[in-house]
Amino acid sequence: MTTKLAGKIAVITGGNSGMGLATARRFVAEGAYVYITGRRQKELDEAVQLIGSNVTAVQGDVANLADLDRLYDLVKQQHGRVDIVFANAGAGELVPIADVTEEHFDKLFSINVKGLVFTVQKALHLMPDGGSIILNASIASIKGFEAFSVYSATKAAVRSFARTWTADLKARKIRVNALSPGTIDTPILDGLGTTKEEVDQAKAGFASLIPLGRMGTADEIAKVALFLASDDSSFVTGVELFVDGGAAQV
Ligand SMILES: NC(=O)c1ccc[n+]([C@@H]2O[C@H](COP(=O)([O-])OP(=O)(O)OC[C@H]3O[C@@H](n4cnc5c(N)ncnc54)[C@H](OP(=O)(O)O)[C@@H]3O)[C@@H](O)[C@H]2O)c1
Repeated sequence: MTTKLAGKIAVITGGNSGMGLATARRFVAEGAYVYITGRRQKELDEAVQLIGSNVTAVQGDVANLADLDRLYDLVKQQHGRVDIVFANAGAGELVPIADVTEEHFDKLFSINVKGLVFTVQKALHLMPDGGSIILNASIASIKGFEAFSVYSATKAAVRSFARTWTADLKARKIRVNALSPGTIDTPILDGLGTTKEEVDQAKAGFASLIPLGRMGTADEIAKVALFLASDDSSFVTGVELFVDGGAAQV
Protein backbone atom coordinates (compact mmCIF):
# COMPACT_ATOMS: atom_id res chain seq x y z
CA MET A 1 0.00 0.00 0.00
CA THR A 2 1.21 3.51 -0.83
CA THR A 3 -0.02 6.45 1.13
CA LYS A 4 -0.87 9.42 -1.05
CA LEU A 5 -4.24 9.65 0.74
CA ALA A 6 -3.31 8.30 4.18
CA GLY A 7 -6.01 9.16 6.72
CA LYS A 8 -8.17 11.04 4.20
CA ILE A 9 -11.96 10.69 4.10
CA ALA A 10 -13.50 10.71 0.63
CA VAL A 11 -17.02 10.70 -0.79
CA ILE A 12 -17.49 9.35 -4.32
CA THR A 13 -20.98 9.60 -5.81
CA GLY A 14 -21.74 6.92 -8.36
CA GLY A 15 -19.15 4.68 -6.73
CA ASN A 16 -20.77 1.34 -7.55
CA SER A 17 -19.72 1.26 -11.23
CA GLY A 18 -17.28 2.49 -13.85
CA MET A 19 -14.98 5.39 -13.00
CA GLY A 20 -16.40 5.92 -9.52
CA LEU A 21 -15.74 2.32 -8.53
CA ALA A 22 -12.23 2.33 -10.05
CA THR A 23 -11.47 5.55 -8.18
CA ALA A 24 -12.79 4.16 -4.90
CA ARG A 25 -10.45 1.18 -5.30
CA ARG A 26 -7.45 3.47 -5.94
CA PHE A 27 -8.30 5.83 -3.09
CA VAL A 28 -8.60 2.94 -0.60
CA ALA A 29 -5.34 1.43 -1.89
CA GLU A 30 -3.71 4.81 -1.15
CA GLY A 31 -4.90 4.85 2.46
CA ALA A 32 -8.25 6.70 2.28
CA TYR A 33 -11.57 5.75 3.87
CA VAL A 34 -14.20 6.02 1.14
CA TYR A 35 -17.98 6.48 1.08
CA ILE A 36 -19.56 5.37 -2.19
CA THR A 37 -23.10 6.10 -3.33
CA GLY A 38 -25.49 5.00 -6.03
CA ARG A 39 -29.17 4.14 -6.44
CA ARG A 40 -28.73 0.37 -6.97
CA GLN A 41 -28.17 -1.50 -3.69
CA LYS A 42 -27.03 -4.78 -5.29
CA GLU A 43 -24.25 -3.00 -7.22
CA LEU A 44 -23.26 -1.13 -4.06
CA ASP A 45 -22.97 -4.42 -2.15
CA GLU A 46 -20.85 -5.93 -4.93
CA ALA A 47 -18.62 -2.84 -4.99
CA VAL A 48 -18.06 -3.07 -1.23
CA GLN A 49 -17.05 -6.73 -1.67
CA LEU A 50 -14.63 -5.80 -4.45
CA ILE A 51 -13.05 -2.89 -2.58
CA GLY A 52 -12.71 -5.08 0.49
CA SER A 53 -12.05 -2.65 3.36
CA ASN A 54 -12.24 0.99 4.44
CA VAL A 55 -15.43 1.57 2.49
CA THR A 56 -19.06 2.30 3.34
CA ALA A 57 -21.85 2.25 0.77
CA VAL A 58 -24.78 4.62 1.16
CA GLN A 59 -27.71 4.02 -1.17
CA GLY A 60 -29.19 7.21 -2.57
CA ASP A 61 -30.07 9.42 -5.52
CA VAL A 62 -27.90 12.53 -5.94
CA ALA A 63 -30.92 14.41 -7.26
CA ASN A 64 -32.72 13.82 -3.94
CA LEU A 65 -31.49 16.33 -1.37
CA ALA A 66 -32.77 14.26 1.56
CA ASP A 67 -30.58 11.36 0.36
CA LEU A 68 -27.55 13.68 0.30
CA ASP A 69 -28.36 14.85 3.84
CA ARG A 70 -28.52 11.23 4.98
CA LEU A 71 -25.13 10.54 3.35
CA TYR A 72 -23.37 13.47 4.99
CA ASP A 73 -25.09 12.87 8.36
CA LEU A 74 -23.49 9.42 8.36
CA VAL A 75 -20.08 10.76 7.31
CA LYS A 76 -20.30 13.36 10.10
CA GLN A 77 -21.33 10.80 12.69
CA GLN A 78 -18.61 8.29 11.72
CA HIS A 79 -15.66 10.51 10.76
CA GLY A 80 -16.61 14.13 11.44
CA ARG A 81 -15.21 15.45 8.16
CA VAL A 82 -14.74 14.84 4.45
CA ASP A 83 -11.43 15.80 2.80
CA ILE A 84 -12.18 14.80 -0.79
CA VAL A 85 -15.39 14.83 -2.83
CA PHE A 86 -15.50 13.22 -6.26
CA ALA A 87 -18.87 14.35 -7.67
CA ASN A 88 -18.95 11.65 -10.30
CA ALA A 89 -22.52 10.36 -10.59
CA GLY A 90 -23.94 11.16 -13.98
CA ALA A 91 -26.22 10.01 -16.75
CA GLY A 92 -26.23 10.42 -20.51
CA GLU A 93 -28.66 9.77 -23.35
CA LEU A 94 -28.40 10.42 -27.09
CA VAL A 95 -31.37 12.55 -28.21
CA PRO A 96 -31.34 14.94 -31.20
CA ILE A 97 -32.64 18.41 -30.41
CA ALA A 98 -35.86 17.86 -32.37
CA ASP A 99 -36.74 14.94 -30.08
CA VAL A 100 -35.72 16.43 -26.73
CA THR A 101 -38.54 16.06 -24.19
CA GLU A 102 -39.09 17.83 -20.90
CA GLU A 103 -38.49 14.48 -19.20
CA HIS A 104 -35.08 14.02 -20.88
CA PHE A 105 -34.07 17.59 -20.04
CA ASP A 106 -35.19 17.35 -16.41
CA LYS A 107 -33.56 13.95 -15.91
CA LEU A 108 -30.12 14.99 -17.16
CA PHE A 109 -30.10 18.38 -15.46
CA SER A 110 -31.39 16.87 -12.18
CA ILE A 111 -28.64 14.26 -12.00
CA ASN A 112 -25.69 15.95 -13.71
CA VAL A 113 -26.21 19.53 -12.54
CA LYS A 114 -28.57 19.74 -9.54
CA GLY A 115 -27.16 16.53 -8.05
CA LEU A 116 -23.59 17.74 -8.47
CA VAL A 117 -24.29 21.20 -7.03
CA PHE A 118 -25.83 19.82 -3.83
CA THR A 119 -23.31 16.97 -3.52
CA VAL A 120 -20.66 19.67 -3.21
CA GLN A 121 -22.64 22.26 -1.25
CA LYS A 122 -23.72 19.79 1.44
CA ALA A 123 -20.12 18.59 1.89
CA LEU A 124 -18.73 22.05 2.61
CA HIS A 125 -19.54 22.23 6.31
CA LEU A 126 -17.61 18.99 6.82
CA MET A 127 -14.63 19.90 4.62
CA PRO A 128 -11.49 21.25 6.27
CA ASP A 129 -9.45 24.02 4.67
CA GLY A 130 -7.30 22.59 1.88
CA GLY A 131 -9.85 19.98 0.77
CA SER A 132 -10.14 18.77 -2.82
CA ILE A 133 -13.31 18.73 -4.91
CA ILE A 134 -13.25 16.89 -8.23
CA LEU A 135 -16.14 17.28 -10.67
CA ASN A 136 -16.62 14.65 -13.34
CA ALA A 137 -17.40 16.59 -16.52
CA SER A 138 -16.74 15.36 -20.10
CA ILE A 139 -15.08 16.38 -23.33
CA ALA A 140 -18.71 17.01 -24.36
CA SER A 141 -18.30 20.30 -22.45
CA ILE A 142 -16.33 21.69 -25.41
CA LYS A 143 -17.50 19.53 -28.34
CA GLY A 144 -20.56 19.44 -30.57
CA PHE A 145 -21.35 15.74 -30.83
CA GLU A 146 -24.57 14.95 -32.69
CA ALA A 147 -27.62 14.15 -30.52
CA PHE A 148 -25.73 15.08 -27.35
CA SER A 149 -26.95 18.63 -26.81
CA VAL A 150 -28.59 18.40 -23.40
CA TYR A 151 -25.88 16.14 -21.95
CA SER A 152 -23.17 18.45 -23.31
CA ALA A 153 -24.87 21.49 -21.77
CA THR A 154 -24.94 19.77 -18.37
CA LYS A 155 -21.21 19.10 -18.63
CA ALA A 156 -20.47 22.67 -19.75
CA ALA A 157 -22.24 23.73 -16.55
CA VAL A 158 -20.04 21.35 -14.55
CA ARG A 159 -16.92 22.84 -16.09
CA SER A 160 -18.17 26.33 -15.22
CA PHE A 161 -18.68 25.36 -11.57
CA ALA A 162 -14.99 24.44 -11.29
CA ARG A 163 -14.18 28.08 -12.12
CA THR A 164 -16.76 29.80 -9.91
CA TRP A 165 -16.40 27.52 -6.91
CA THR A 166 -12.61 27.95 -7.03
CA ALA A 167 -13.34 31.65 -6.51
CA ASP A 168 -16.04 31.04 -3.88
CA LEU A 169 -13.81 28.73 -1.84
CA LYS A 170 -10.44 30.43 -2.22
CA ALA A 171 -10.41 31.72 1.37
CA ARG A 172 -10.59 28.11 2.54
CA LYS A 173 -7.87 26.93 0.10
CA ILE A 174 -10.28 24.30 -1.17
CA ARG A 175 -9.27 23.27 -4.69
CA VAL A 176 -11.99 22.58 -7.27
CA ASN A 177 -11.15 20.92 -10.56
CA ALA A 178 -13.11 19.42 -13.42
CA LEU A 179 -11.89 16.07 -14.73
CA SER A 180 -13.12 15.67 -18.31
CA PRO A 181 -13.00 12.13 -19.66
CA GLY A 182 -13.17 11.27 -23.32
CA THR A 183 -14.78 7.97 -24.29
CA ILE A 184 -14.14 5.54 -21.44
CA ASP A 185 -15.29 1.93 -21.62
CA THR A 186 -17.80 1.77 -18.77
CA PRO A 187 -21.41 0.53 -18.46
CA ILE A 188 -22.73 4.03 -19.26
CA LEU A 189 -21.89 3.37 -22.92
CA ASP A 190 -24.55 0.62 -23.02
CA GLY A 191 -27.02 3.47 -23.46
CA LEU A 192 -25.53 4.32 -26.85
CA GLY A 193 -27.78 1.77 -28.59
CA THR A 194 -30.60 -0.68 -28.09
CA THR A 195 -28.66 -3.78 -29.23
CA LYS A 196 -25.10 -4.97 -28.55
CA GLU A 197 -24.28 -4.42 -32.24
CA GLU A 198 -25.47 -0.82 -32.06
CA VAL A 199 -23.46 -0.21 -28.89
CA ASP A 200 -20.31 -1.79 -30.39
CA GLN A 201 -20.74 0.31 -33.53
CA ALA A 202 -21.10 3.51 -31.51
CA LYS A 203 -18.03 2.62 -29.40
CA ALA A 204 -15.99 1.94 -32.56
CA GLY A 205 -17.14 5.27 -33.97
CA PHE A 206 -15.94 7.13 -30.88
CA ALA A 207 -12.67 5.13 -30.75
CA SER A 208 -11.90 6.09 -34.36
CA LEU A 209 -11.87 9.77 -33.30
CA ILE A 210 -9.25 9.20 -30.57
CA PRO A 211 -5.58 9.82 -31.47
CA LEU A 212 -4.47 7.02 -29.14
CA GLY A 213 -6.73 4.69 -31.14
CA ARG A 214 -8.80 3.22 -28.33
CA MET A 215 -11.25 4.04 -25.58
CA GLY A 216 -9.88 4.76 -22.12
CA THR A 217 -10.32 2.55 -19.08
CA ALA A 218 -11.99 3.47 -15.81
CA ASP A 219 -8.67 3.05 -14.01
CA GLU A 220 -7.04 5.62 -16.30
CA ILE A 221 -9.59 8.09 -14.92
CA ALA A 222 -9.00 6.85 -11.37
CA LYS A 223 -5.28 7.62 -11.68
CA VAL A 224 -6.06 11.22 -12.63
CA ALA A 225 -8.68 11.54 -9.90
CA LEU A 226 -5.98 10.40 -7.45
CA PHE A 227 -3.65 13.10 -8.78
CA LEU A 228 -6.34 15.77 -8.30
CA ALA A 229 -7.26 14.44 -4.84
CA SER A 230 -3.72 14.27 -3.54
CA ASP A 231 -0.96 16.72 -2.69
CA ASP A 232 0.62 15.96 -6.09
CA SER A 233 -1.78 18.58 -7.53
CA SER A 234 -1.35 21.10 -4.69
CA PHE A 235 -1.08 24.08 -7.09
CA VAL A 236 -3.80 22.95 -9.51
CA THR A 237 -7.24 24.50 -9.16
CA GLY A 238 -10.05 25.71 -11.42
CA VAL A 239 -8.82 23.65 -14.36
CA GLU A 240 -10.56 21.29 -16.73
CA LEU A 241 -8.18 18.35 -16.97
CA PHE A 242 -8.91 16.34 -20.10
CA VAL A 243 -8.28 12.59 -20.00
CA ASP A 244 -9.33 11.66 -23.50
CA GLY A 245 -6.48 10.06 -25.45
CA GLY A 246 -6.28 13.37 -27.29
CA ALA A 247 -9.80 13.21 -28.72
CA ALA A 248 -10.80 16.79 -27.98
CA GLN A 249 -7.28 18.21 -28.16
CA VAL A 250 -6.35 17.92 -31.84
N1 LIG B 1 -17.90 6.66 -19.97
C1 LIG B 1 -17.66 7.73 -20.67
O1 LIG B 1 -17.29 7.64 -21.86
C2 LIG B 1 -17.79 9.11 -20.06
C3 LIG B 1 -17.20 10.18 -20.72
C4 LIG B 1 -17.24 11.43 -20.16
C5 LIG B 1 -17.85 11.62 -18.93
N2 LIG B 1 -18.43 10.57 -18.30
C6 LIG B 1 -19.01 10.83 -16.98
O2 LIG B 1 -18.38 10.00 -16.04
C7 LIG B 1 -19.24 9.82 -14.90
C8 LIG B 1 -19.24 8.35 -14.50
O3 LIG B 1 -19.78 7.56 -15.54
P1 LIG B 1 -19.24 6.12 -15.93
O4 LIG B 1 -18.78 6.21 -17.33
O5 LIG B 1 -18.34 5.60 -14.89
O6 LIG B 1 -20.63 5.32 -16.00
P2 LIG B 1 -21.32 4.19 -15.09
O7 LIG B 1 -20.42 3.03 -14.93
O8 LIG B 1 -22.65 3.99 -15.68
O9 LIG B 1 -21.45 4.92 -13.69
C9 LIG B 1 -22.39 5.91 -13.44
C10 LIG B 1 -22.55 5.98 -11.94
O10 LIG B 1 -23.43 7.05 -11.61
C11 LIG B 1 -24.39 6.56 -10.70
N3 LIG B 1 -25.59 7.37 -10.84
C12 LIG B 1 -26.27 7.67 -11.98
N4 LIG B 1 -27.34 8.41 -11.68
C13 LIG B 1 -27.33 8.57 -10.33
C14 LIG B 1 -28.18 9.23 -9.40
N5 LIG B 1 -29.29 9.88 -9.80
N6 LIG B 1 -27.86 9.20 -8.09
C15 LIG B 1 -26.76 8.55 -7.66
N7 LIG B 1 -25.92 7.92 -8.48
C16 LIG B 1 -26.22 7.91 -9.79
C17 LIG B 1 -24.61 5.10 -11.09
O11 LIG B 1 -25.13 4.33 -10.01
P3 LIG B 1 -26.70 3.92 -9.94
O12 LIG B 1 -27.14 3.62 -11.33
O13 LIG B 1 -26.73 2.75 -9.01
O14 LIG B 1 -27.40 5.11 -9.37
C18 LIG B 1 -23.17 4.69 -11.37
O15 LIG B 1 -22.49 4.37 -10.18
C19 LIG B 1 -20.60 10.39 -15.33
O16 LIG B 1 -20.75 11.68 -14.76
C20 LIG B 1 -20.47 10.51 -16.84
O17 LIG B 1 -21.28 11.53 -17.37
C21 LIG B 1 -18.43 9.31 -18.84
